[in-house]
Amino acid sequence: MYREIELDNIDLTEEPPQEEPARQRYFIAKARKRLRAISERARRPMTFRIVTFGCQMNARDSEKLTGILAAIGYAPSDTEDADLVVYNTCTVRENANRKVYGHLGKLKRLKEANPYMRIALCGCMTQEAQVVDKLKESYRFVDLVFGTHNIFQFAQLVCQMLESDSMVVEVWEGTDQIVEDLPAQRKYPFKSGVNIMFGCNNFCSYCIVPYVRGRERSRSPQAILDEIQNLVNDGVVEVMLLGQNVNSYGKTLAQPLSFARLLSQAVEIPGLRRVRFMTSHPKDLSDELIQVMASSDKICRHLHLPMQSGSDRILEKMNRRYTKESYLRLADKIQTAMPDIALTTDIIVGFPGETEEDFQHTLDVVRQVRYSSAFTFQYSKRTGTPAAVMEEQVPADVVQERFNRLLETVQDIAREECARWEGTTGQVLVEQVNHQDDALLTGRLGNNLLVHFPADRALIGKIVDVRLNECKGFYYMGEISDGNITNDAAILENKRIL
Ligand code: 5AD
Ligand code: SF4
Repeated sequence: MYREIELDNIDLTEEPPQEEPARQRYFIAKARKRLRAISERARRPMTFRIVTFGCQMNARDSEKLTGILAAIGYAPSDTEDADLVVYNTCTVRENANRKVYGHLGKLKRLKEANPYMRIALCGCMTQEAQVVDKLKESYRFVDLVFGTHNIFQFAQLVCQMLESDSMVVEVWEGTDQIVEDLPAQRKYPFKSGVNIMFGCNNFCSYCIVPYVRGRERSRSPQAILDEIQNLVNDGVVEVMLLGQNVNSYGKTLAQPLSFARLLSQAVEIPGLRRVRFMTSHPKDLSDELIQVMASSDKICRHLHLPMQSGSDRILEKMNRRYTKESYLRLADKIQTAMPDIALTTDIIVGFPGETEEDFQHTLDVVRQVRYSSAFTFQYSKRTGTPAAVMEEQVPADVVQERFNRLLETVQDIAREECARWEGTTGQVLVEQVNHQDDALLTGRLGNNLLVHFPADRALIGKIVDVRLNECKGFYYMGEISDGNITNDAAILENKRIL
């Protein structure tokens, strides 16, 4: 967690310190001075916009980038018509890359109209050598390119970018370094992601992540718990513990600690109301974790358990290291221990060699487990992964047809699962004013379902009881339950309720 420091007191006539994070603080101060001079010349504040693609890890990384830019003195902008635009990219599927190149074309025109504008690219896509080559060749107007491993160097790189007229490229192939204590600025004041580990060692045969995010590295439990405590002190009530596979947390620490143990320590933090986590690989989800989850009502009743395929043959080719039967057994164990849990999943359709029979196994798992929601993907060939060179790539029209059937099944079941809660009262973390109707607030149940209900916006960031009146497919319309009026003394005192 970032401790306020007097940036303007850092002596910039000295050489930058070698150790982190002091080195980055030095560069924040240096970039700040430089930006101030630019602002004076332009006679206006310099603005920034970060566009995030992909997963929760990227979303959290973007909060770190935001914190650094705010410390440097950039003002946030709601549009890409800003003086610094950062694309934090994803490369899990081919589509994600295409989207970024498309956006870059638009940025080029904006840059031609604004002499102060700079463009930076980071995230998983820039870890791919051929992407960097393409940027150097055809996207010369991009000013800064950096990768996932050296994201902590952002202040230093911004400094370099502000002092240079040519493209700055700094992409590391890997690292075992974890730099703590740099600024971060949260999107929501009341909830936050917390990285517990970086990288992935699983090498699922379709997946680019292990190549672009590197080997597994766990943060120390103390650093994680301190960060959560500081977040709670700063008004956070819900944290999401983040890792590509949280179940292998702690294995590489000098003193190994299981994820379940870390979780049970996290829930003890006073003032913390809710804990979530993402993502769990089914191959090593322990009984200990199920038991810790079941024994704490602070741990949200939601588990994301990527299935990918229901066919043993395909699971083997995917290198997932579980079978249909062991997956179903695990799901059953979890649902038996926590009957109110919402299970969600990721499914890939059209992996090389997938037959109709394989696909039927996937549908069968969907019907047996009854997911509350599922991210469904058409297999996308990622150069550099083992699956990309597998024979029997499935024709696009077959993939599309299976995908449509899968989506229909997933959605029918998700609707029924959502409807289970009609008429009950649930605890909702109020997140924001409803986008469509500003008389309504939108909040999230522990099981991740969204609820819209009329209430005063002073409740944003609070956890309140909401009666789930009407299921609208995948979300609820509700009303504040009377219980809150007597429960939440602080709000009563301020007479802010309704
Ligand atoms: N093609 C399609 N989907 C993929 N995913 C990862 N790699 C690919 C790929 N090559 C999906 C998996 C993973 C999710 C984050 O993205 O389902 O769980
Ligand atoms: Fe990719 Fe598999 Fe690692 Fe998930 S567990 S990030 S799907 S390699």
